[in-house]
Amino acid sequence: MTNNNDREWPYTSVNHDAVDERHHGAINIPIYQTSLFAFETYDKFQQAARNPQVEHVYSRGNNPTVRYLEDKLAELERAETAKCFASGMAAISAAILSTVKTGDHIVCVDQAYGPTRDFVTRYLRRFGIESTLVDGSSPDHIRDALRPETKLIYLESPTSMLFQLQDLAACAALARSRGIVTIVDNSWATPIFQRPLELGIDLVVHSITKYISGQSDSVAGVVLGSGQLVGRIANDEYMLLGGIMTAYTAAQITRSLRTLPLRMERHERSALTVAAHLAEQSHVLRVNHPALDSHPQRELGLRQMSGSSGLFSFESAEPVEKMRQWAGRLRMFKIGVSWGGFESLVTVNPAGASCAEGARSLIRLHIGLESAADLILDLDQTWAAVSSEGGDDGPGA
Ligand SMILES: Cc1ncc(COP(=O)(O)O)c(C=O)c1O
Repeated sequence: MTNNNDREWPYTSVNHDAVDERHHGAINIPIYQTSLFAFETYDKFQQAARNPQVEHVYSRGNNPTVRYLEDKLAELERAETAKCFASGMAAISAAILSTVKTGDHIVCVDQAYGPTRDFVTRYLRRFGIESTLVDGSSPDHIRDALRPETKLIYLESPTSMLFQLQDLAACAALARSRGIVTIVDNSWATPIFQRPLELGIDLVVHSITKYISGQSDSVAGVVLGSGQLVGRIANDEYMLLGGIMTAYTAAQITRSLRTLPLRMERHERSALTVAAHLAEQSHVLRVNHPALDSHPQRELGLRQMSGSSGLFSFESAEPVEKMRQWAGRLRMFKIGVSWGGFESLVTVNPAGASCAEGARSLIRLHIGLESAADLILDLDQTWAAVSSEGGDDGPGA
């Protein structure tokens, strides 16, 4: 039974399973809280040990609770297979390491998540791996940065500060024509709204910590792609560096997955309402949200994504100190890093932020699952209070 409605099929995918008699028909996958698996005979042990990624030998290789989640995530992302990790950065660093060796070169988008850029540009240099950061808004910039020794193009679309997109299909075609591997961080859109493997990208990585978890109670990551590429990562970076996901975390994330499509639709709707409201305020110069008509890559967004999530930013001509005063007095928005959870968050000029010309501050908002009307009221009332105290004209229309 397949349902091709882009908005509907994930609901069945995450909520329906055949009865699994290996688990006595348990409706939820049991938590296999075990480090190792024992065998009745030496023959069976030796047979399993030949294939530790498929058979159950040791939980650093394969644990049934984690495997269940990996299969679900692979189905959602339309990947052949998936490997879950202890964090998004464990997944990202493993995926990158699997593609390069000494003497190779990486092209990475200059707006990628800060620690990813740090890993590529500083950490990998010690192993003789060079890199170039590029403006990813055009595949031409990426093409211009390629060298004969380039082995990886690392993308993040949209980026999580200014929400720039990369043309995934064009980047994938360019990379394939030169035998270069492509990786995309898909944490913002999730497989609910964007499936880069269908556009020709080789590997997708996620910080599961964000929307896939959605509960702000877990740190986790995943790499998805072909059996060949992910299998290599599983045998090397996963087994040797050991940044594994525990069975308990996998059970928590599996529980979260049941509501992922529902939550994403809610984040999308509320964030668009708040973003459109902010775009009309006189103290807001620009709202960076890929699904607003004002976004310079709106057309590309419509082509490669079927929806949008709850994280966006806006730029203001007001000084950082004033915006931080405002942020600190918001009641509905907590000040904090990360995003993707049930709670709304605010940061002003977070680390790595840069504003476009004319702007003095960059404010990043995560729109949680609260009422959008309550969030807007809080944003407006707090702005009015802060502005009146500063002898300002108050909020714009
Ligand atoms: C876009 C993006 N990718 C990756 C990561 C890293 O994920 P984790 O914190 O789970 O290691 C983050 C974390 O904030 C992120 O924002």
